[in-house]
Amino acid sequence: MLARAGFGSRRVCEDLIADGRVTVNGEEIVLGARVEVDRDVVEVDGVPIGIQPDSVYYLLNKPPGVVTTAVDPQGRTTALSFVPTEPRVHSVGRLDLETEGLLLLTNDGQLTHRLTHPSFGVEKEYLAEVEGDPSRGALRALREGVELDDGLTAPARVSAQGPSLVRIVIHEGRNRQVRRMCEAVGHPVTRLIRTRIGSLRDTQLRPGSWRELTQDELRELERSVLLLDEAATTEASPADAITAEAITDGAITDEASPAEASPAEAITDEASVDMNPAAVPSRDQADEADEVPEDS
Ligand code: URA
Repeated sequence: MLARAGFGSRRVCEDLIADGRVTVNGEEIVLGARVEVDRDVVEVDGVPIGIQPDSVYYLLNKPPGVVTTAVDPQGRTTALSFVPTEPRVHSVGRLDLETEGLLLLTNDGQLTHRLTHPSFGVEKEYLAEVEGDPSRGALRALREGVELDDGLTAPARVSAQGPSLVRIVIHEGRNRQVRRMCEAVGHPVTRLIRTRIGSLRDTQLRPGSWRELTQDELRELERSVLLLDEAATTEASPADAITAEAITDGAITDEASPAEASPAEAITDEASVDMNPAAVPSRDQADEADEVPEDS
């Protein structure tokens, strides 16, 4: 069961059990213990492994102008209105009214806690279109930490993706953080899109569309928060999966695929972004030119 839930090979799972890290209904188990999938609560290091049968996990590409609260006194469209009403779900964290991109909706409180609690430090990646063209100094300031009214921001991974276009990876979840960071270095955000939550990304989902997470995605997400909980980020950081991204016509597309991200398809009409792939440095180039090593 552990192996099926993505904890590794049978051998690795046996070691987890032998090390006393696996409990069933709160009791440490020994090798060979039998488990009833639908009834028993299996935990590794105190965190349920499971994919509970009645839990749902939706990934929405939130359009601008949509609130992420359950109800809105002003009657604006809510993210919940895009997905099935039963079972009731909530959003995992918030996106500002005008922020677009990936939003996870679920009824799984445990996973929500782990994805949003600062101690887990789950990475969130954003593509920000900003006013002006940030200098290397401004990018460095964003990376190293910016003094905001609620304190200094943690180091971030930041790279220029083109004129006025910045990719920012943060692992804090402060209110309007990316907007405030960019503003603080003199480049207010004109458009903000979340392109990754931990290990989760989707380059095909259209604005306003949603889909269920696959079992593999869910396991990967569960695994990543377990690993982060162990402070094992250097071994299995979801950052390893990062590729430079561009956003085409609202969908989040991989800039490594020039055919998909041609200037003609890009969001130039809406946001004046030069998305010519040739103008966007590759991840390696960006690493050399604009990024510092992983911050954690
Ligand atoms: N940072 C912001 O400024 N806004 C969001 O919606 C998310 C991150």
